[in-house]
Amino acid sequence: MSELVLGIESSCDETAAAVVRAGREVLSSVIASQIEEHAPFGGVVPEIAGRSHLRAVMPAIDRALAEAGVDVSDLAAIAVTTRPGLIGSLLVGLSAAKGLAYARGLPLVGVDHIEAHAYAAIMEAPDAAYPNLTLVASGGHTALYEVRSPTELERISETRDDSAGEAFDKVAHLLGLPYPGGPSIARLAESGNPKKIAFPRYRTKSGEPDFSFSGLKTSVLYHLRGQDALARTPEPDAIPDRADVAASFQAAAIDALVAPTLEFARRRGLDTIAIVGGVASNRRLREQMQARASESGIRCLFPSPIYCTDNAAMIAGLGWQLLRAGRTSDLALDASAR
Ligand code: KG4
Ligand code: ZN
Repeated sequence: MSELVLGIESSCDETAAAVVRAGREVLSSVIASQIEEHAPFGGVVPEIAGRSHLRAVMPAIDRALAEAGVDVSDLAAIAVTTRPGLIGSLLVGLSAAKGLAYARGLPLVGVDHIEAHAYAAIMEAPDAAYPNLTLVASGGHTALYEVRSPTELERISETRDDSAGEAFDKVAHLLGLPYPGGPSIARLAESGNPKKIAFPRYRTKSGEPDFSFSGLKTSVLYHLRGQDALARTPEPDAIPDRADVAASFQAAAIDALVAPTLEFARRRGLDTIAIVGGVASNRRLREQMQARASESGIRCLFPSPIYCTDNAAMIAGLGWQLLRAGRTSDLALDASAR
C-alpha cells in the first residue's frame, strides 16, 4: 500500500502543498507566499487572501507532485487543513482537495492546523517523544498543550489576550517595520540592546503561570509616546532608539513565553517540550528556551524554521497519522474558522 500523502494548506496567507511519505519523509514542500500582496496593508486582508489562494492552489499542487516525482495515482490519501483560519481561504484548499479525492477515488483527511503545527516538531524528531508539552506560538495562537500522541492533544493554557505573533506584528507596525513583524523585529533587534528598556513581564496576582501580551504591547506604545497618552506615535524615523526598543521588546516577549512554559512542564512532570508555530522560528527564543530548559533537565524539540511557519508538510505528515487511525472523511467534510 502507498504511504504517500499529499497535504494542502490554505488557512491564512500561504498557499502550500507537499508530499510526505509515511508521515515523516518530506519529498516536496511548496509554499507560495502572499506576503507581498498583503504588505502594503500591514496585515492579511481576507478578501485578497481567498482570491490569491484560488490562483495559486492548483499550481502549488502540481509543483509538489512534480518535485516529489509522484503522480496522483501513487497517493494513499489527500490531507487538507479544515480549521482554524480564514474561512474563505480554507474553502479554497478544501475544494481543491475534494475535487482531487473525488476524481481519483482517494481518501480525504481533514487536518486541524494547530495539531499540525504540534506534529511538525515530531515529524523531524528521531523518536516519538510522547508525552510532551507543546507550545504553539503563531500569529493566530499562543497556547500550551499536553500531547500524548499525534492525535491526542489537551489544551492546558491559552493566552489571556493577544498571541505572541500578533504582539510582534503590532510592535513592528509601531516601529515602521514591514509585515510580517516577527522576522523584521528579529533582524532589527540584532543591533539593539535587549536590556536597555525594562518592559514589563506579565505576572498573575495568584502567581499562576499564564501568557499575556497586550500589556507589553501597550508599554511599547507608551514608551514611544513618552508616557503621554494623548501624544501621537512618532514617525518611525523620529524614534531614536528603534533597535533598542525592538531588542528589549523581543527579550520581554521571549521571557513571557519561556517562563510559563517551563513552569507548566515542571508542574506536569513533563521532560520534553516542543516549541512550534511561526514565532518558534525566532532564533533568540530557541536559544533562551534551550538554555533555560536544560538547567531543569528538560529536552527541547524545535521544527526546522521552515516547518515552524505555515507549510503543507506538517498537514501531510499528520494526515498520514490520521489515515492510519482510520480518521478519514467523506465529501461532506466542512471547514471552520474556529
Ligand atoms: O504559524 P504562522 O506562520 O501562521 C499562523 O498560523 O498564524 O505564524 C505567523 C506568525 C506571525 O505573527 C509572524 O510575525 C511570526 O509568526 N513570526 C515570528 C518570526 N517569524 C515569524 N515571530 C518572531 N520571530 C520570528 N523570527
Ligand atoms: Zn500556522
